Amino acid sequence: MLLSAGTPASAMRLSVAGAVLLAAAAYYVYLPLPSGVSEPWKLMLLDALFRSFIQASDVVQKLGFCHSIHMLNRVVSWVEMIEARSCPAVHVTDSMLGGVPTRIFQPKAGRKLKRGVIYFHGGGWALASGKMRSYDLLCRKMAEDLDAVIMSVDYRLAPEAVFPSQYHDALAASRAFLSLEVLQRHSIDPERVCVSGDSAGGNLAAAVAQQLGSDDSTTVKFKAQALIYPVLQALDFYTPSYQQNQAMPFLYRPYMARFWLQYLGADSSLVPVLLANNHSSLDQPDISSATRSKLNWTALLPAERREHFRPVVKARGSPGTVRNVPGLMDVRAAPLLAEQEVLGKTPKAYVVTCEFDVLRDDGLMYARRLRDAGVDVTNDHHEDGFHGCMVFANLPMMSSVGQRSKDSYIRWLDQNL
Ligand SMILES: *[C@@H]1O[C@H](CO)[C@@H](O)[C@H](O)[C@H]1NC(C)=O
Ligand SMILES: *[C@@H]1O[C@H](CO)[C@@H](O)[C@H](O)[C@H]1NC(C)=O
Repeated sequence: MLLSAGTPASAMRLSVAGAVLLAAAAYYVYLPLPSGVSEPWKLMLLDALFRSFIQASDVVQKLGFCHSIHMLNRVVSWVEMIEARSCPAVHVTDSMLGGVPTRIFQPKAGRKLKRGVIYFHGGGWALASGKMRSYDLLCRKMAEDLDAVIMSVDYRLAPEAVFPSQYHDALAASRAFLSLEVLQRHSIDPERVCVSGDSAGGNLAAAVAQQLGSDDSTTVKFKAQALIYPVLQALDFYTPSYQQNQAMPFLYRPYMARFWLQYLGADSSLVPVLLANNHSSLDQPDISSATRSKLNWTALLPAERREHFRPVVKARGSPGTVRNVPGLMDVRAAPLLAEQEVLGKTPKAYVVTCEFDVLRDDGLMYARRLRDAGVDVTNDHHEDGFHGCMVFANLPMMSSVGQRSKDSYIRWLDQNL
């Protein structure tokens, strides 16, 4: 079933990618990885491939040919983009949802009234697409296993589009998704709709769930929010998970700072400022103690996560950073900064976290704050997981923790939506 989505051409592309992967591995012989991580040798090989692409695209940018993100997206589309093709069980089409391009997965048979999921892909608000093979396969499987209509949204990407454009696209598509017209056209039960996404897409899903939870003008509400290793804050780059996993593939700590600055339309020369926590030093008058308490991990994380780490709070930093980059403090960009009342109006939540992920504590703190606000939360923590594992569940990587996390995500949706 799943294999029917591949074509000889895409198989060839995969083999070429495999060959490049082997060649790349020859240059990056060894990467020290923690012993607990799932299938470290696979991670090492794929990481070597990614690092070589990222370095090559940085060189291309320095030579003035094109932006590194465009180069990366071109490589990704060449390897991964697939057409909208239906299979025996699921009708697949590319369409618009609230003015935003969206791939729609509609089961052909099954119940008359279906469940619905709107999905936002990851990629640092800059990379990837719902039309990529990995996301296409994920949504296809969800449609089939859950007998649900899945809408995978291609919101605009950085560097052309910056905050709040991605957020606005996600919100516009969600409002359209929840409209009676769209629900009726796709035979979706208004009582059983979910917002979901991974990584930067989990950020957008959380932000949309907050906005629509507190918006009294929408009659249809999300029943659930399913956030897969979401990114939720940019004020502390020294959470225990940022400290522990700073050199873990595929999301190195400096990459996350770079993605944030790019999303917020700020200059990448500020990366060292963020990595020093100089932007959230105590001499920044714009960050109140109420704001700080929302991401105070010494209070929000359980003791076993804190014991080997110390907070890094600078007394003096780089004044004015937060004023120059207001998105750092904008709850629509950083959903962890929401007020408790706002969190309390969001739907039942599923939060995936991975042990070997810089964003692990973003997710754990959010799960804790949602619970404190009275929301029913399931935190699915993968002890051997790494950032992005779910999109590596298919060939060529066939990640074991990727497959397990995907199965338990779909199982939670089945039992809770
Ligand atoms: C964080 O919480 C701890 C423990 O409750 C407290 O001692 C500390 O002052 C808090 N720090 C900030 C910056 O709010
Ligand atoms: C952080 O702030 C301190 C104090 O103002 C300054 O000395 C240091 O150079 C800053 N570091 C960075 C990376 O901006």
